[in-house]
Amino acid sequence: MTGISKRFGPVQALRDVGITVRAGTVHALVGENGAGKSTLMKILAGVYQPDTGAIEIGGREHCFASPAQALEAGISMIYQELDLAEHLTVAENIFLGAEPRGRLPFTVSHKHMAAQAAELAQRFSFDIDPAAKVEDLATGDCQIVEVLKALRHNASILVMDEPTSSLSEREAKRLFEVVRRLRREGLALVYISHRLEEIIDLADEVSVLRDGLLVHCEHAAKLDIPKIVHYMVGRELTDFFPTRTAQIGDGLVQVQGLSSEAGIRDISFEVRRGEIVGMAGLVGAGRTEVARAIFGVDKRTAGQVILDGRELNIGSPADAIASGIALLTEDRKRTGLCIELPCSWNITLPNLGHIGFKPFIKPSRESRIAEEAGSRMAVKWSSPQAPAGSLSGGNQQKLLIARWLLANSRFMIFDEPTRGIDVGAKTEVYGLLNKLAEEGKAILFISSELPELFGIADRILVMRRGQLVGNLVTKQTTPEEVMHLAAVAERTL
Ligand SMILES: Nc1ncnc2c1ncn2[C@@H]1O[C@H](COP(=O)(O)OP(=O)(O)OP(=O)(O)O)[C@@H](O)[C@H]1O
Ligand SMILES: [Mg+2]
Repeated sequence: MTGISKRFGPVQALRDVGITVRAGTVHALVGENGAGKSTLMKILAGVYQPDTGAIEIGGREHCFASPAQALEAGISMIYQELDLAEHLTVAENIFLGAEPRGRLPFTVSHKHMAAQAAELAQRFSFDIDPAAKVEDLATGDCQIVEVLKALRHNASILVMDEPTSSLSEREAKRLFEVVRRLRREGLALVYISHRLEEIIDLADEVSVLRDGLLVHCEHAAKLDIPKIVHYMVGRELTDFFPTRTAQIGDGLVQVQGLSSEAGIRDISFEVRRGEIVGMAGLVGAGRTEVARAIFGVDKRTAGQVILDGRELNIGSPADAIASGIALLTEDRKRTGLCIELPCSWNITLPNLGHIGFKPFIKPSRESRIAEEAGSRMAVKWSSPQAPAGSLSGGNQQKLLIARWLLANSRFMIFDEPTRGIDVGAKTEVYGLLNKLAEEGKAILFISSELPELFGIADRILVMRRGQLVGNLVTKQTTPEEVMHLAAVAERTL
């Protein structure tokens, strides 16, 4: 790709960017949220047309008017925001638009489709049921379906936009095996990730974007994480985690014997005022389900939640919010953002009760409040009126956090809040968690990244197969112990 520029209204997303991706290599693309990584790759995949610049593949110049044309030329892309048909099965998603024909004309052979999907999954040793409905899958499994969908096309260029952001460590390792295998098979791979350890581990070459400009390109062997960070943010980053300053007080939240229809069983724990309690576990261990049961999304079948000594009767998220509980969901597109609505509305939406009564809310007041919350989280938007869907992935995440800053909640649950956000924004989120704890709030912090749990949490709960198998004081445990509990241990509590 040479001389690529792209503007979205007032935002110059890319400025004269050129990169060369070689066959049989992994080319990593890194940069802060909004740097232009996804845009550059969407241009390659035919989603957007560049304002200037050219794409050349194998010596031939191409100009893609649609993703279908790019696919034709051998370019497959796994998008940052999962893009599956929820009501279809895994196999139907993988073969969408290219279903194997049945014996009768105009029919689809579901048998063949399931068999081919199973074969594909097996070839890359993914453990997934082709007949399962996508809406019933955990986010990690959806990611695997996306990978299989892309592999099915026999692409020669495969772009992965943050494929591991919602995978467990083990699933991510399996994906790396696949990436390495595809590299050996001669594919050209572009790999976008905010997990810089992965980049060092996996990439042959690294290109760094900053504010739409290509600021650096070098062999991965000559780079290390501090250097990459330096190019990304243009300054050194020290103090990744804040010094914990919150006073831990008495118990604010007691969860007792909580079970839900979604399969979690007999969960009991306490979170004290000013305390950050981390929750670890593999994908599918039931961490999100705990949050959903507390928040009134999934139906409780047993147990209770006590806040400030009062047993709560939560039947819906509205009850939970009214009781002073906030939940930041892990999947912003499926359960969090209204992507077609303005950013400002996305912030004020669950907070209208504090702002005034519709229809008597002054629009100017609403947007001023939203703007303040947005700038506290350093959301990068062209204007608060821009649709939430026009923000870069990481900025959408910040928008969701900004939303909960307004809610006057005492118990805040963060489900993978740093998923897909850049290193600079991560430190902002950690600082924010610390500050919220300082204000005396109780915080439950669900994360798949052990380093951040160890960096910020006072205690770490470990989930495995719907049960709580560990409740550890962070200072008295090790990542190995947590991993062991998450992966193999029997119930210890
Ligand atoms: N469809 C769109 N309409 C308007 N602006 C857009 C659109 N897509 C991207 N942008 C803007 O272009 C810039 C680059 O966005 P892009 O999604 O490429 O960032 P990114 O590097 O992928 O970030 P992230 O790490 O957060 O995913 C951002 O400022 C974003 O708001
Ligand atoms: Mg992106």
